[in-house]
Amino acid sequence: MILDIPDVLSPDQLTKARSILEAAAWVDGKTTAGHQAVHAKDNLQLPVDSPAALEVGDMILRALSANPLFTSAALPLHILPPMFNRYSGGQQFGTHVDGSVRVIPGTGHRIRTDLSCTLFFAGPDEYDGGELIIEDTYGAKSVKLPAGHMVLYPSTSLHHVKPVTRGARLCSFFWLQSMIREDSRRSILFDMDIAIQRLAAEQPTHASVVQLTGVYHNLLRQWAEM
Ligand code: NI
Repeated sequence: MILDIPDVLSPDQLTKARSILEAAAWVDGKTTAGHQAVHAKDNLQLPVDSPAALEVGDMILRALSANPLFTSAALPLHILPPMFNRYSGGQQFGTHVDGSVRVIPGTGHRIRTDLSCTLFFAGPDEYDGGELIIEDTYGAKSVKLPAGHMVLYPSTSLHHVKPVTRGARLCSFFWLQSMIREDSRRSILFDMDIAIQRLAAEQPTHASVVQLTGVYHNLLRQWAEM
């Protein structure tokens, strides 16, 4: 499942985040690429311990913890600290797959990357190119979202970022381990949650609301890993 999550950050948060990021000290993105990605990757990144990355990363994680659509779709168990990249002047990131296991910086604790997240800080009219192309079961999907919006996609997907030929593409990217390892099971729970919410809004006293909520939680109980 590939899902757009709108308005993760408010306009005020975006303005603040952009001023912090634009003043930060960016470095060559190759410093954090693995064997496979080092040849494909051409961008700038913020070091994980940079004060700007920590401050804006914290803003993102607080916003996501209060976002019901994100919570329902991702069912997150652990979220890695958000990282940041910037593409301009023809920079791109060729086709790659994200590493399956990553260490939470400074802890030694490892998490499995089930879902990848990209949050956009620049609007689509501010740069040319820079589409995130995700190869899904049903073909390739091109993603270029409004500022403040985020895409959530399976970390199992091959993906690339097209060259940015005008302006600059500024994004946050990070990974999470879900309580539900399998994308297909996570999709079933997400669809069921959406349907229950709709039923509860339209028929709040219907007995099926409680029964279906029970089914949802019993499936989650069977499948969740913690
Ligand atoms: Ni990637």
